[in-house]
Amino acid sequence: MNSTDKNERIEQGSSDFKEVLDAQANTKGKTYSDFLKLDELLALQPGLEDNSESLLFFTLHQTKELWMRVMYVETLNARDNLFEGKVGPALKILARIRSIQQIMIESWSGLATMTPVDYLSFRDKLGSSSGFQSPGYRKLEFILGQKEKRFLIPHEKSPHHHSELKEILSQPSLYDSALHYLNRAGILIPKDRLERNWAEEYTFSQGVYDAWKTVYEDTETYFNEYHLAEVLVDIEYDFQLWRFKHFKTVERIIGNKTGTGGSSGVQYLKLAIDRYFYPELWEVRGVL
Ligand code: HEM
Repeated sequence: MNSTDKNERIEQGSSDFKEVLDAQANTKGKTYSDFLKLDELLALQPGLEDNSESLLFFTLHQTKELWMRVMYVETLNARDNLFEGKVGPALKILARIRSIQQIMIESWSGLATMTPVDYLSFRDKLGSSSGFQSPGYRKLEFILGQKEKRFLIPHEKSPHHHSELKEILSQPSLYDSALHYLNRAGILIPKDRLERNWAEEYTFSQGVYDAWKTVYEDTETYFNEYHLAEVLVDIEYDFQLWRFKHFKTVERIIGNKTGTGGSSGVQYLKLAIDRYFYPELWEVRGVL
């Protein structure tokens, strides 16, 4: 770029700035802050006079709660599309969920900058509150397919969360709808899986395993079903990565201490990694 071009660019840039600033000076509508309710949002965080460690802790928890809500809503959308046999729109939505999972996984690196000493500077303030009581996390687990009634117990003290979670428990999950989709596509699923009590924990079914095996053995004929299966595995895989990073980040912060929620701490978090969402999809990989 010669110097005349460069000067013209700078002049153009300045006039763009002037235009936008003039427009802003005359604007009468909603502001960015009004629209996003920024004052209310920022008031939910520790103030600048508070410990900056707790600011980081709050920000990570609150942003994860917001993202989990988006993921929950989108899982409902994907589930409903699959029930209607619309695999294309469902896959598009699942791609969004996966991209949010990457943000969720990566955000642990922010918390990994917190040393045990940093954490101790505000740990007392947490009392017995714990991520174990996160309604957003449990809603997401339930709707993705991991239904465990016992996880309603921590919510008994907050009736609105408890009743919402109970309601979600009684609805079909994303996996239930994927099985309906398969059945509709002519890959027969046992009746006891199509009409099961949705509130019960999902357990391995030989008939469902056989159905997925049919898909994997002829991926050309069943390409959409194969694609869906792999995206479900992607979602579970990323969920497990999130759990693993939680476990490792917590280990570097609290070592083998017990958790604020009363669990054994990292031992409990390690156990969570062995909880599977879609058992047949993992089992079938070993026989191909
Ligand atoms: C200093 C940071 C953190 C520590 C030391 C920590 C520690 C723990 C521990 C020890 C547990 C087991 C239950 C208990 O006894 O409390 C737990 C559970 C949990 N935490 Fe964290 N955590 C941290 C950050 C986070 C963040 C940022 C989130 C994001 C939402 C989160 C979400 C959860 C969830 C959802 C559970 C329940 C997991 C399950 O039941 O499988 N934690 N945490």
